[in-house]
Amino acid sequence: MAGITDGNFCKKMSTYGFDVVTIGGYNIDKKTINAGECIIQRGRPEFHIKEENVLSTIKEESSIIKNAWNGKVSVNLRSTLPDPIVEISRINEIDIVEINAHCRQPEITNIGCGQALLYSPKKLYNFTKKVVKKSQSKVSVKIRANIENVDNIEVSKVVEDAGADYLHVDAMKPGFDHADLDVIKKIKENTEIFLIGNNSICDVKSARDMLSAGANGISLARAAINGSLAFDLSRI
Ligand SMILES: Cc1cc2nc3c(=O)[nH]c(=O)nc-3n(C[C@H](O)[C@H](O)[C@H](O)COP(=O)(O)O)c2cc1C
Repeated sequence: MAGITDGNFCKKMSTYGFDVVTIGGYNIDKKTINAGECIIQRGRPEFHIKEENVLSTIKEESSIIKNAWNGKVSVNLRSTLPDPIVEISRINEIDIVEINAHCRQPEITNIGCGQALLYSPKKLYNFTKKVVKKSQSKVSVKIRANIENVDNIEVSKVVEDAGADYLHVDAMKPGFDHADLDVIKKIKENTEIFLIGNNSICDVKSARDMLSAGANGISLARAAINGSLAFDLSRI
């Protein structure tokens, strides 16, 4: 969660039984950093790092977690170019770089980044493939489901075909306060990639439902937004 999930936040969350924590999202190239500045100006929290400090900051934040915990650290990244993501994959403390094809803030989508990647499967494929080819960490791609004029299965297959290790799906169902489990089921039926199901997981039942729908793993954000978790992950 941009502006919230830094090293100290994730270090605290690592005690709740997760096997991966995700820092970021971070804006890491000129265009996304400028976009982030505009987002901050209209009052929405963002991490704001100068371009020249991006690598050292992400190294510092991931070290805070790695120095205290054995699990994996993922970093959610917004970039208009693949190479800055590859650079971050070289940080020793980073296990997974996550391409953000999910952000819907207009300042980000207007520069062809975040969710805008989903409107152009070819661009998503080429972008992901370039990162996969040179990355020294595992590669995840986070997508948002049920976007108008976007075929959930097509973009999922594109991520798989480009060679990503993980497909992270925000199974958002517009107008509902629960995840679209059908979309998870359909993606699972049509791909073999490790599928992380996300959206509205707030207790043992909603986590189990996501796994029963076909997800190989789950992730959650808002249920932990206050820096604690009200349920026990070991019971899932
Ligand atoms: C304040 C806030 C900031 C977020 N920032 C990011 C982000 O930077 N990158 C990202 O991929 N998702 C971001 N998300 C989306 C969440 O990671 C998650 O996909 C979404 O909230 C649905 O999952 P949940 O129901 O468990 O919260 C953000 C969500 C919130 C509430």
